[in-house]
Order: sequence, then C-alpha cells, then structure tokens
Amino acid sequence: MKILFIASEVTPFSKTGGLGDVAGALPTALAALGHDVKIVTPRYQDVRNTGHLEPTGQSLVLRFPFGEVGGPVLSARLTERLEVLFLENEALYGGRKGLYGDGGGEFADNPRRFAYLCIGALQAAQRLRFFPDIIHLHDWQTGLVPVALRRGFQGTPLSRAKCVFTIHNLAYQGQFPKGTMEDLGLPWDLFTPEGVEFYDQVNFLKSGLVFSEALTTVSPTYAREIQTAEQGYGLDGLLRRRSHALTGILNGIDAHEWNPRTDAYLPEHYGPDDLKGKATCKRALLERFGLSGDTGAPVFGIVSRLAWQKGVDLLLETMPAALQADLRFVAVGNGDPVLEAGLRALQERYPTQVGVHIGFDPELSHLVEAGSDFFLMPSRYEPCGLNQMYSLRYGTVPIVRATGGLVDTVEGGLDGNGLLFETFHRTALLAAIRRALALYADPVRLGDFRGRGMGKDFSWAASARKYESLFASLVAE
Ligand code: ADP
Ligand code: GLC
Repeated sequence: MKILFIASEVTPFSKTGGLGDVAGALPTALAALGHDVKIVTPRYQDVRNTGHLEPTGQSLVLRFPFGEVGGPVLSARLTERLEVLFLENEALYGGRKGLYGDGGGEFADNPRRFAYLCIGALQAAQRLRFFPDIIHLHDWQTGLVPVALRRGFQGTPLSRAKCVFTIHNLAYQGQFPKGTMEDLGLPWDLFTPEGVEFYDQVNFLKSGLVFSEALTTVSPTYAREIQTAEQGYGLDGLLRRRSHALTGILNGIDAHEWNPRTDAYLPEHYGPDDLKGKATCKRALLERFGLSGDTGAPVFGIVSRLAWQKGVDLLLETMPAALQADLRFVAVGNGDPVLEAGLRALQERYPTQVGVHIGFDPELSHLVEAGSDFFLMPSRYEPCGLNQMYSLRYGTVPIVRATGGLVDTVEGGLDGNGLLFETFHRTALLAAIRRALALYADPVRLGDFRGRGMGKDFSWAASARKYESLFASLVAE
C-alpha cells in the first residue's frame, strides 16, 4: 500500500512527547513490511539533521483569505520505502522556540500553522504524484485533512485515499474562535454540530473524528475510556456513535533506540542476564544529580511533560511522606511553570534525596530509565504511555496508576512486572511506593519482577501489523 502519514512532530526531527516517537517509529515499521510511506511534517527551526534535507523541486502556494502562504518542500529519504517531507515556511514555523507554544502559551497563529500542514501535505502529495491508499492522521493538528480532501481535491487521484485518524490525546482538541472559519476560508456549512462546530467554536480534532473513515486510539483501554462522559472531553457521544469505526491499537516502542544492550547514552550496557551495568548506570545517575554515589537506597525516577494529565501534582503532594524512607527521587521534565516550581521546591527541601532537572533532555531521559529502580507514572489519564514500556525493557519497575494504556502494558499482582494503584489520591500512591520499598528489600522477588518486564516484547512489529490489516480492510471496501 501507499501510505501518507501526516504528523506535527516526528522523532528524531522534532518531539515534545510520545506522538513524535510514534510518528518516527510506526512509519519505519510499516515501510519494513513493504509499504511505501511518506511522512509530511513542518520544518521547525529546530529540526535536527537539517544537513540531510534535499530539495524536492516542489514549492507550495496556498491561498487563504488571510493571505497567500507557501514555501518549499524538502525531503529526507530514510530508506528506499520511507521518505520524510518537510513543509518550510519561515513565518509559520521558523524563528520560535517550542512546537506549539512557548512560556507565554499556545501560539496565536496555530490554526494557520496547522491548516497549512493539512492542506500543504495534500498539495505536496499531489505535486509529487504520490497517490496514497491511506492517509494516516494524528491528533488535532491534522484534523482538517479529511475536510480539505473532500472539499478541495474532488475528482483527483488523491480523493481515492481513505483517512485513518489516530487519537493520541483526546484532551488536546485545537479549539479556536469561530472567526477561524473565515480566516481559513472553511465553508460555513461545516459549522454545525454534525461538522466541525463545538460549543460555537471550531474544533480541529472533531473535524478529524467526524470526517475520517476509520478512527484509532493508542490502547484498547483508552478506546473504551474515551467513550465515557468522564474521559470523553465532550466528544464521547460522537465517539460512541462512531464506535464501530474505532479501534484501540497499542503503541510499540523503538526497540533500537530503547535497548539497554546498545543504548549510546549509557555509561555501561546490560541485559536481562547480567544487570551489573544497571548498577553503573545508577551510580552515574546519582552523580549526575549531585546525590551521593551510594547505590544502597532505591531510586525512583520520572521523565515527563509537566502537565495536569501526568499527576505530577499528586506526586508533589505524596513525596514529603515518601521521603521519610531512605529513598532517592530524580525528576526530568518541563511544562507547567507551577509544577516546575513545585519540583524545584521539593529539591530545595530535600537536597540530599531529590534531584531535579527542568528541561527537555533525551540523553538524560535514557539515563533515568536505566539508572532508576522504579519509574513513576501517577497519571490522571494516559492514552498509552511509552515510558512504562521503556522502564520494563530497562529492568526498572514501573509504578503506575491503573488507567488507559498503563493497564494494557503493566502487569500487577504478585507475579507481575510492575505496581499499579487505582485511586488518584496520595494514600494510594504512597501505598504503592511502600509496596515498592518492600519489593526492593527482597532482591529475589525484585529480580523476578525485573526479569519478567525485560522479557516482554513491545516492539512495533505486532502493532504495525494491526494497522496494516485495518488499512487493508479499508482499501478493500
Ligand atoms: P506523552 O506523549 O503524553 O508526553 P508518553 O509516555 O507517550 O507521554 O511519551 C513521552 C515521551 O517524551 C517519552 O519518549 C519521554 O521519554 C519523552 N519525554 C517527556 N518529557 C521529557 C523530557 N523532559 N526530556 C526528555 N524526554 C522527555
Ligand atoms: C499522547 C499520550 C500518550 C501516548 C502518546 C503516543 O501524547 O499522552 O499516552 O503514549 O500520545 O501515542
């Protein structure tokens, strides 16, 4: 099949979270199955590996009521069957820190920035005469694609394509004032409750959910949760109506990037049969955070966007009680300034036990995964979550709230591979941390937990096959 993949972030070129990881790894897995895949993404100023970008010879010009926008399409060919196309436009994507916003909030021109991605991706495919069977879309930034396809490309070879929309996070919807309809030249007949209108605003995510042929989300549990009022963010009714078109397909992980046997960021490698290198990583992690090099006490780690979703506030509430025990806590994250300040304050209060790095640091995130004994994910909700799978692979026992993809990947119980807690409350989290301390005090049992986690296969192969059969069934329709 020919697959056009459109995403607002793609690892290793750009990343704010798991979406980037998925948009980097899934196309690679699909290409390895023999499909022709092109990914279209913005060329942000901080796109890495810019040295490898080649001109495609194509340049876009899109006419919007707010003006004409255009720019070159650049290419990075990753393999024979996989190419990344970058849309360049200085005004929309250049000269900024952050992909969607900065310290001052979301960028005001995000509707224009991602409308350009949606329509530009289609125009780029058309110019390059790449006529996909499937257009695979991801999150609100790509929500206008099915509308643009239906309204702007009728009768062209592109219009044969079926749209599959993957929800990575239902809470981020791309909602904008209704004047956006006029600004972008969207036909007003779409501005209805059956269309893109949502409480008198334009909702990009809703557009994707209404007009795509198939919907997926990133774990089976989250697929059920988003059909409930509690987790549906106002779109649960729509999702229940479209439930026949919605499936949950668990994310995989990039098994090359996240492999403790080969990980280039680690001071020493290790595997399930020999964990000696993990102790070296632990020592390096403690040193990196200026904590004592004594590896006797357990280390609890977290790497996270600092957002409401992730339950970092609950962690901040719970840690003072947890830190009465002899444990170390290291955190890497950035985002909400209140949570950043909360972590800094915790570190100041417990300087010998707590290490905090505020920032986005992939290298350090690998060291936290490898050097910690336990990994904390007290999420309010979690569509899939990747860090718990990295943790399992690195012999780091995840402590997770029983929600979304965390339920589908972490096994609780006496012969499980991680620790789960149900209630979003500090007594429940504290109890889980105490269970972890008891586990740590029993090296044989801890070794069993680690071994079971490290033995699990979370590589993309199985999930990519599920997408492949979904795509094939749409093509056959
Ligand atoms: P989400 O996409 O909701 O943020 P995931 O668990 O799916 O959650 O993916 C998060 C990804 O982003 C992981 O690869 C994680 O290591 C990475 N990440 C998050 N915050 C940071 C950070 N501050 N520094 C480095 N990597 C980070
Ligand atoms: C979102 C979700 C996360 C998921 C990731 C990749 O950012 O918050 O749970 O793992 O997308 O699908």
